[in-house]
Amino acid sequence: MSSFENGEGALVIDVGSSSCKAGWSGEDMPRAHFPSVMSTGEHALESKEARQAKEIRRAESMEEPTTSVNVSGKSAPVSLKHPVVRGKVDLSDDTMEKLLEHTFSVELDMYSESLAVPVLVSEAPGTDKATRARLTQMLFEQFKVSGVCFANSAVLSLFASGRTRGVVLEVGAGVSSVVPVFEGYSLPHAVLSMDCAGQDVTSFLKQNINHELSHQAVQAIKHKVANANKMDGKGKQSEKSEYELPDGTTINIDGVYASACVDQLFNPDEYGIEAVDGGLGDMLAKSMSMCDKDLQPDLHRNIVLSGGTTMIKGFSERVKNEVRGGVDGPINVVPDSTGIEPGYNSQRQIGAWIGGSILASLDTFNKISVSKQDYEDEGSNANIVHRSAAKGRDQVTEDNRG
Ligand SMILES: Nc1ncnc2c1ncn2[C@@H]1O[C@H](COP(=O)(O)OP(=O)(O)OP(=O)(O)O)[C@@H](O)[C@H]1O
Ligand SMILES: [Mg+2]
Repeated sequence: MSSFENGEGALVIDVGSSSCKAGWSGEDMPRAHFPSVMSTGEHALESKEARQAKEIRRAESMEEPTTSVNVSGKSAPVSLKHPVVRGKVDLSDDTMEKLLEHTFSVELDMYSESLAVPVLVSEAPGTDKATRARLTQMLFEQFKVSGVCFANSAVLSLFASGRTRGVVLEVGAGVSSVVPVFEGYSLPHAVLSMDCAGQDVTSFLKQNINHELSHQAVQAIKHKVANANKMDGKGKQSEKSEYELPDGTTINIDGVYASACVDQLFNPDEYGIEAVDGGLGDMLAKSMSMCDKDLQPDLHRNIVLSGGTTMIKGFSERVKNEVRGGVDGPINVVPDSTGIEPGYNSQRQIGAWIGGSILASLDTFNKISVSKQDYEDEGSNANIVHRSAAKGRDQVTEDNRG
């Protein structure tokens, strides 16, 4: 592979179902973290109105897949849309292109005719080749980037925790997934996922609070009161949590709901949620059992949490208890509830981005990326991106071993 003309660093982007994280390789934090949403038909709006719609949307919620907002001066509400729904990129219209445009020009303030930098894109486990190829083409043709690389978000989160071997439980806003990884390779035959995550936790709470509150208000309550205590059916969680709304009103949240909203992730059947592989604990045990026997003890000892929803109180302990019943031998969940690895703790929501920042600063990044030259040499065939990723993975692994 030829190296990039611009050797100054790469852009790292993780577009999630609720928010987009974007910034420069080698940095500790994304420069921008904002709702992954665009107003549809935005070109028809005056820029002031488009901005206003975005501001309202930003304040409203980062989770709901589609919604509409009232913009002053418009008789009809403006529709807003996420380009990523339940972890899947929707390329049926130009929402993703608009979001990338917004990311580069507004959030990162780097608009020019040609971006001329390589871009590392974090992709959800199970992203199909057609989506990857279409995004590759978009990045080269529309944004004129100098290189493109895709990396699995779970593998990146594992890198962020300082590992190349382990099993990642990623629970974001729209999707939960379990991905075992061996020396930097995800093991696709044992990847399991469920369309139930943070946005469903918020919706559950919203339905069970006796107050008319916006999604955003309930989300803030969730961050404060939700806990992953096990539901034991004996009403132990019945203590109420007090919560003060921004207007000063105090409301009481029944403890049963504060834990049931999280319990549904672990016991989806009991809540009428379709989940072929069971809840998060079952998914972990099943996924690890599908891997090579020799690898299993390593996986048990390196269960790495990532995604914003794993920040819920008691989440790590609950995962440990759930898995303990299903596997033999010692188990270690990272971050551990006892704070053995506190460093990774607060980074969980941006774990994939941080891993991307690390990967894109390795010397081998050039080898696993497709440069503009490679793309053009192949007659602008975006499918080159699959071959390149396969070739480069061994190389990444070697670097991380050292
Ligand atoms: N402290 C917290 N406690 C509980 N939930 C939290 C906390 N912080 C963030 N969340 C939740 O995490 C979710 C967002 O996480 P994340 O940014 O990892 O998702 P995403 O990448 O946008 O979505 P996905 O990966 O599912 O496509 C939201 O549902 C948010 O409410
Ligand atoms: Mg995510």
